Amino acid sequence: MKPIYYPEPFRIKSVEPLRILTREEREEKIATAHYNVFALAAGDVYIIDLLTDSGTGAMSSAQWAGVMVGDESYAGADCYYKVQAAAKRVFGLPYVQLVHQGRAAEKVLLPILLEGKKYAIANMHFDTTRAHVELAGARAIDCVVPEALDTTAYYDFKGNMDLGRLEAYIRELGAENIGVIIMTVTNNSAGGQPVSIENLHAARDIAHRHGIKFMIDAARHAENAYFIKQREEAYKNSSIADIVREMFEGADCFTMSAKKDAIVNMGGLIGCRDRAIFELVKQRTISFEGFITYGGMSGRDIEALAVGLEEGIDENYLRYRIGQMQYLAGRLEEAGIPFQSPVGGHAVFVDAKKLLPHIPYYEFPAQALAIELYREAGIRACDIGSYMLGNDPDTGKQLEADFEFTRLAVPRRVYTQSHLDVIADALINIKERADAIKGYKIVEEPPILRHFTAKLAPLG
Ligand code: F0G
Repeated sequence: MKPIYYPEPFRIKSVEPLRILTREEREEKIATAHYNVFALAAGDVYIIDLLTDSGTGAMSSAQWAGVMVGDESYAGADCYYKVQAAAKRVFGLPYVQLVHQGRAAEKVLLPILLEGKKYAIANMHFDTTRAHVELAGARAIDCVVPEALDTTAYYDFKGNMDLGRLEAYIRELGAENIGVIIMTVTNNSAGGQPVSIENLHAARDIAHRHGIKFMIDAARHAENAYFIKQREEAYKNSSIADIVREMFEGADCFTMSAKKDAIVNMGGLIGCRDRAIFELVKQRTISFEGFITYGGMSGRDIEALAVGLEEGIDENYLRYRIGQMQYLAGRLEEAGIPFQSPVGGHAVFVDAKKLLPHIPYYEFPAQALAIELYREAGIRACDIGSYMLGNDPDTGKQLEADFEFTRLAVPRRVYTQSHLDVIADALINIKERADAIKGYKIVEEPPILRHFTAKLAPLG
């Protein structure tokens, strides 16, 4: 892959100093954190925090101006009407509800769709989506195309749903038992991989033919639309705004974590086409989030969200954004460092199974690589692999994940090309001594979502 880089389509007005720790200090901090990156103080992360791209973006001057304008009225605030108008313009669905983040949208909407049902099927469920499907008493089934599982195979739309398998599941499980078919765009768990419009519409049509609701998890809809413009012939001359509306054409509902592509630190949305579902959404929002015109948000955050929804679909911004990912991936490819390829929209997912083949899944290669990155250069990444997956709830045995990814999630508009070079250089140094890197064992863990709080110890 040839390195591609598009300059930042902004200049920097306000900066935040980064603290520089020595290698000795980092060794001490990671040991004190029991080799769990979530237990590190953010202030101890020199220089680059790649833990997530969620809520970590830099707001624009227009968004900060919105923070001052935001109306804090309990009911009917001005910013409520602005965000409604912006969301309807961007997504094209008639009913929109504010909530405070993506999982709140899931908590409000999924029990409505899953009432009396047994299953949700998705290209891939994000962890919180899976949790809310299960909390609603149903089971979450992933149905991604097989190409996604081979990190070295080129495929334009590794986020797609496997349509043949989807039809087979519907036959096997019974359409009447399936509450919703979900498309996560981009497909985070498969590596921030895009979904084509052809696939989105085909999955929607299958759902509707069987009388099943079709929902989009829209956390990274704008990045997905940019890939469609680049890779799906029929849309190469369409604007990003038109592509987004086409993606959502005919969808019954969507949930959205606005902390990603709307470039705000907090916020979420639910969209619906059906008035009856929307009425239920409003009632549940009042119980769980707050009155419908603020939905768990402060007015200043709502105002910033209304601005961010439009900024997120700006093509110049997206060219730079995806260009950053492609630049970093290009440097890794030149150095022979394996990752989910082609690179996705919000992160480089380094294939730790291939980089550290001597570490078995039960000694957590992706976690070992994340710790090595912190030691090497103060970079914080995280494990998306067996360490995160955890134990079988019935047998208590460690599960083996399909992937052992160390995710380098890049916050929006935050880091420069020099920062990307530091990340690439650190990984290149680590690759040179990869054979000597050892795995980890867990010494203490809670029963669920253990990766946030478990304590680990180095092996060997
Ligand atoms: N859906 C997807 C695809 C996500 O990636 C996330 C969050 C959510 C839903 C939940 O949204 O955090 O606002 O409640 N992903 C973050 C990440 C946490 O790091 O990938 P939330």
